Amino acid sequence: MASDSLTITDNRTDRTYTLPIEDGTVRAMDLRQIKTGPEDFGLMTYDPAFTNTASCRSGITFIDGERGILEYRGYPIEVLAEHCTFLEVAYLLLFGELPNETGLKNWVHEITYHTMLHETTKKFMGGFRYDAHPMTMLVSTVAALATVYPEAKNIHDPENRLLQIKRLIGKMPTIAAMSYRHNLGFPYIYPDNDLSYTENFMNMLWKMVGPKYVANPVLSRALDVLFILHADHEQNCSTNTMRSVGSSQADPYVATAAAAAALSGPLHGGANEEVLKMLDEIGSKQNVAAYIQKVKNGHEKLMGFGHRVYKNYDPRAKIIKWTADRVFEVTGRNPKLEIALELERIALEDEYFVKRKLYPNVDFYSGIIYQALGFKPAMFTALFAIPRTVGWLAQWQEMVVDAEQKIARPRQIYTGQRTRRFLPMEERQAAGAMKK
Ligand code: CMC
Repeated sequence: MASDSLTITDNRTDRTYTLPIEDGTVRAMDLRQIKTGPEDFGLMTYDPAFTNTASCRSGITFIDGERGILEYRGYPIEVLAEHCTFLEVAYLLLFGELPNETGLKNWVHEITYHTMLHETTKKFMGGFRYDAHPMTMLVSTVAALATVYPEAKNIHDPENRLLQIKRLIGKMPTIAAMSYRHNLGFPYIYPDNDLSYTENFMNMLWKMVGPKYVANPVLSRALDVLFILHADHEQNCSTNTMRSVGSSQADPYVATAAAAAALSGPLHGGANEEVLKMLDEIGSKQNVAAYIQKVKNGHEKLMGFGHRVYKNYDPRAKIIKWTADRVFEVTGRNPKLEIALELERIALEDEYFVKRKLYPNVDFYSGIIYQALGFKPAMFTALFAIPRTVGWLAQWQEMVVDAEQKIARPRQIYTGQRTRRFLPMEERQAAGAMKK
């Protein structure tokens, strides 16, 4: 009879163990009973980069990487991108259900009334060098919010947690917009509570001397859709960082800053900026084949391609391509699109990419839209951080109330030396000790 268990024979001892299988996993701690003798620590798994380790149970985001499926709380991403606003999706991710009309109205009001920054935070931002990278400013400023809201440390109080969640979602666009204007040398613009989340963000970015900023509805909707697509993606590098830092019961501001720092790397959220640099380097459609050859020779990576989980077309990339068409009707076609389409065409036919199941990911086309919307590449990763803050916070909240979670603390395989004799200074030269 089939049984949900795994039988292992340890060939070192000839002993056999039966471990329960639950949800397609065995518990790593169950392996510890497998020992060669009483002095043996017990068997561990070795999984650098967590390629095959589930670190939590989560009911937030479902991904089937083989089939290219992404769902938030059970709703397909395509449906949410078509019918919802970003704040509606944020509510869904955080609370598990779509809001009703009153619920959404209240939620939007609450987020809107948390968009202001304390004047000291504004001054703090004014202290950055004139050419500071917006993402670096964002990471530091989010951490600095912990000084303004010290009560955020009280993470076990659900009301207090929710207040900090609203503050972070509300303030993220303000911090990102101020980082952008700082970089351009423009004065900061205060939030306008009459506007929607994305319209207000656009206002804080681009308002000049006019009394009221009016966003193009097609462009503000496109940004809203991009925010929906980036809101969560289960246990990626930055979310894992959020959970890991949060597991020490650090406050949500410093944990979010750590997650944003993880996002900034070129293999994660920083990839969207790198894609634009790559397209600039390629320069024209005719140079694409030569560039692909360089990638295949191992001299370059095709930025915006490949994914740890998706071994099929990233469903977000499909929606982004569709959104790009709407944006280009307003802004005109970004000439880089030709190069990107040619890169995709060649890569999807090429044995190197086919064999490795490398498809365009979310970052491949997003930068092209961001550029058409008027953003400089240095701002792209901050645009990713704003919506992903919702995912980080939903995952953090889930972790805080999960009775099974403890402080994150992986094991290691120690490869260094043991119990050496200490050398006094006068003996080290003769023993050939390091000069530095
Ligand atoms: N260009 C060329 N070769 C690649 C690429 C790429 N973009 N991505 C993976 N490969 C190759 C890799 O060299 C390896 O080949 P081989 O088997 O011969 O050694 C094989 O494909 C498997 O790749 P891997 O590095 O083991 O895959 P991973 O799961 O560790 O890495 C990744 C995933 C996203 C870091 C990687 O695909 C990559 O560096 N992509 C480019 C950066 C990028 O677009 N990042 C954004 C990811 S999506 C959004 C987000 O997370 O922020």
